[in-house]
Amino acid sequence: MTHRNDPCWCGSGRKWKKCHYPKLPSTQDIAKQYLLQYGIILKTPEQIAKIRTACQVTARILDALCKHAKKGVTTLELDELSRKLHKEANATPAPLGYGSPPYPKSICTSLNEVICHGIPDTRPLQEGDILNIDVSCIVDGYFGDCSRMVMIGAVSEEKRRVVEVSLQCLNLAMEICKIGNEVWHIGEEIEQYAAKHRCSVVNQFVGHGVGIAFHESPEIPHHYNNLQIPFAPGMIFTIEPMINAGVREGVLDSKDGWTVRTKDGKPSAQWEHTILITETGHEILTLPPVNAPS
Ligand code: MF3
Ligand code: CO
Repeated sequence: MTHRNDPCWCGSGRKWKKCHYPKLPSTQDIAKQYLLQYGIILKTPEQIAKIRTACQVTARILDALCKHAKKGVTTLELDELSRKLHKEANATPAPLGYGSPPYPKSICTSLNEVICHGIPDTRPLQEGDILNIDVSCIVDGYFGDCSRMVMIGAVSEEKRRVVEVSLQCLNLAMEICKIGNEVWHIGEEIEQYAAKHRCSVVNQFVGHGVGIAFHESPEIPHHYNNLQIPFAPGMIFTIEPMINAGVREGVLDSKDGWTVRTKDGKPSAQWEHTILITETGHEILTLPPVNAPS
């Protein structure tokens, strides 16, 4: 067997280890390859630190909004509180003015049969409602994105089921996020769990790379797919499964251009985290603060 210190086989006269010894690709090589092949920006430690901060701010605002979401409160009031909390944290709400038509509010509030992108309005929350609050922040130029469900008082068995199934889908999907697995494994996990619990998985909207921009490569489908992209350290993306009690199809509100409702009017639920792939697994960047006063 050739040893690292033997002369190289190429005849250069140098030691093999200094010449044609096979070397592992450097972090920079991998980053270059991910950008070229998939359009994915693998984040540097400096970028990760900034995105982590943005995600913590986002999680903290979401936490406060969820605590405020009680019977009688309007989603418009939640939007107003969100603006105040963003100001206090030196954060900019990413949804405000985003897309076309420009999104009109600072958060998304999706009630009952609304799958996603519900617009805050003057309807007071009622006993039996389920509400998704989705917060996306820009802090010092970097992005965080997360959402949670709130149940108002006693809710129907069907609503509780979509709330619990969507949370479990997110948790199962996060668990398989580690080196050795690929993006398609996420959809596999989610579809299988949802089907077992008589729920459907929305395929018109996906999770996404995030951090330097609001929506980056890759797309993270929650449904069955064939995205053979290996997880790599420095990948940052959201997982945000939208789970329906009835059919998976959604219908876009043609008047506001944003609100998406289930085609059959049955309830829908969603939870979202921003996560980072690490050398040893993953880190959930948008975990709520542990000791926040309630
Ligand atoms: N988490 C949602 C997303 O990634 C937030 C949507 S904000 C909106 O799409 F402005 F696009 F509605
Ligand atoms: Co998102």
